[in-house]
Amino acid sequence: MPDFRRLLPVIGTAQRGHTGRSAMTCQYRCGNACDHPVPNGSDNEYLGDIISTGLTRRGLVRAGALGALVVGAAGTGLAGAVSPAFAGPEAEPEVPDADMAAAPAAASGALTFKPIPPNQLDALVVPNGYDSAVVIRWGDAVVPGAPAFGVHKQTWQAQLKQFGYNNDYLTVLPLDRRGDRALLVVNHEYTNEELMFPGFTSHDALTVDQVKIAMAAHGLSVVEIERVGRTGEWRPVNEGGRRYNRRITALETKFIMDGPAAGSPLLQTKADPSGTTVIGTLNNCAGGTTPWGTVLSGEENFNQYFVGGDQAPEAIKPGLARYGIDTTKRYPSGSRKWERADTRFDLAANPNEAHRFGWVVEIDPYTPGSTPRKHTALGRFKHEGATIAVAKDDRAVAYMGDDERFDYLYKFVSDKRMDRGRSEQARRHNMTLLESGTLYVAKFEYTSASEIDGSGKLPSDGAFNGRGSWIPLVRGNRSLVPGMSVEEVLVFTRLAADKMGATKMDRPEDVEVNPKTGKVYAALTNNTQRGTAGKAAADEANPRNANKHGHIVEITEAGGDNGAESFSWDLLLVCGDPKDPNTYFAGYDKSKVSPISCPDNVTFDGAGNLWISTDGNQLGSNDGLFAVPLAGPERGHVKQFLTVPYGAETCGPFITGDGRSVFVNVQHPGEVDGARVENPASTWPDGDFAKPAVVVSWRLDGRPVGS
Ligand code: FEO
Ligand code: CA
Ligand code: CA
Repeated sequence: MPDFRRLLPVIGTAQRGHTGRSAMTCQYRCGNACDHPVPNGSDNEYLGDIISTGLTRRGLVRAGALGALVVGAAGTGLAGAVSPAFAGPEAEPEVPDADMAAAPAAASGALTFKPIPPNQLDALVVPNGYDSAVVIRWGDAVVPGAPAFGVHKQTWQAQLKQFGYNNDYLTVLPLDRRGDRALLVVNHEYTNEELMFPGFTSHDALTVDQVKIAMAAHGLSVVEIERVGRTGEWRPVNEGGRRYNRRITALETKFIMDGPAAGSPLLQTKADPSGTTVIGTLNNCAGGTTPWGTVLSGEENFNQYFVGGDQAPEAIKPGLARYGIDTTKRYPSGSRKWERADTRFDLAANPNEAHRFGWVVEIDPYTPGSTPRKHTALGRFKHEGATIAVAKDDRAVAYMGDDERFDYLYKFVSDKRMDRGRSEQARRHNMTLLESGTLYVAKFEYTSASEIDGSGKLPSDGAFNGRGSWIPLVRGNRSLVPGMSVEEVLVFTRLAADKMGATKMDRPEDVEVNPKTGKVYAALTNNTQRGTAGKAAADEANPRNANKHGHIVEITEAGGDNGAESFSWDLLLVCGDPKDPNTYFAGYDKSKVSPISCPDNVTFDGAGNLWISTDGNQLGSNDGLFAVPLAGPERGHVKQFLTVPYGAETCGPFITGDGRSVFVNVQHPGEVDGARVENPASTWPDGDFAKPAVVVSWRLDGRPVGS
């Protein structure tokens, strides 16, 4: 049931930044990126070759290898992406409890819930016939022995044991075959000091201990959870049962760097002359769950944590600037003041420290004492996340977006093949797959380039579509970029991709593979600078200038093989108000769809429907979660499933393999200019002040959600 008991008056009106988001959001999420020059100043080609492909847009594609894995995993009732090859450390007999067996997949398109309307309520709103509950919130105990949270008695020592701030990506990994116990793994992307510390006046006035609390509130949490009765609700297990619970933080956790750039002089610092060991992970945004039962997490807007770029060696300034680090000022606006707690965030003293962030990290949540790793083979950029598919020859494929206006879409294909066995040896082998491979960047080609005028008008061939290629940047230890060593390509991947003529995209965020079809879906959140003076104009893959509402591209790899080096593509959605003629919903009747703006994270249900969460809705509603069928007559019928409370962003959607639970992260509730702990813009979830939290929603009749 929608939680209408908790509807509260919204305090104040959000003052909007350049993109319509609150100025507070602009500062924290991306270090006021809108105020800074677009880091991609390259003049690489953006209008690709005009080709006439005669594509069959909706041609049948053979399901990729991952599809088979997911179908096989459904009986666990849990994580869709987890292979039966890895059932967790306490695998029980393979006969699933009849009660827990996955329901047969509904015919694609059978989304039965009544869409909820756009709203600005300070509540988590779900459709009639559904319920929702908070699973865990900022400050709740994670590690045994964590002190009870008190907003007036915060310490960094306590925060190291408590659930961190601004949960973004989440995944759920099975702990038993019945689907009753699981590991919840969550990213903590960033912190809102205004909304954390009573009496906040300015960042300069924060104490060093408060800075360290913020550092401890970044990172990840691993939380053992259990099903509530026979429902779709989940909760943390009692303290005595927390065998796997763990915090990974920016303050204390040691990471090992691996891959071709590990040990490079570009990664060496005074504290780590080996260039192989880094303390902490920063701005962990989206992520992925591997078929071997580990979790990938993307280090995104790491630039905002560094000062002193003006005093860095001249030789590395172009590299710093290409990642949005200000090389003209000692203290850029919007920096987080972390240098006050740890001088490694001051590039004047430690110029290479920034090179040690911006990676994909891999965590093994099943091994609580394991050392997480940063994989240099996957390149360094503002990694939104990384999601794994399996090529036809069993090599692992990671799809990745670089979330910045005019930046690129990437993929990595491992050198080694995945071992589908169940042994610990097979798992150990698979945990080396991301250490070496081929890193590619996407170049799009078009069927209707001459018709693209930036308005979003559909071309006369009835589709925004074309072919494309994956341009290799590195193969193993060999650079394919003229004038750049392999280490340079991996540490300054954006510069390498500029040289190779990658296609400038409208903020590539989450990229995920449909387990039913192997097709790839990339959310492009928005780009209001598209087509403005001196910037790349609209192209068929990014067809609107001043793109406020974003779009979703659907990629079909050649031969249905995620390891392929070429693809065809089309736009599934061009988002916005369906009444606006420059929107597109895969050809579906626009009078019947929900308005959707700023797609960010995506996932799939067991029927192969796409679920989309949004970040920064520009249509006057709170952000939300939407579902859309991808096949059959319902393809393009977008329906809104939930909205998050006021000021929040919807993150990390995850649907359990049995389809009975939808998890979302409510990130930065109440992130509105002027809001404070004492004067909150949101009082969700507890009625006092805003707290980011993980939520689960389920259907009251126990059937799979959506269908
Ligand atoms: Fe952290 Fe690109 O969103
Ligand atoms: Ca076309
Ligand atoms: Ca995101």
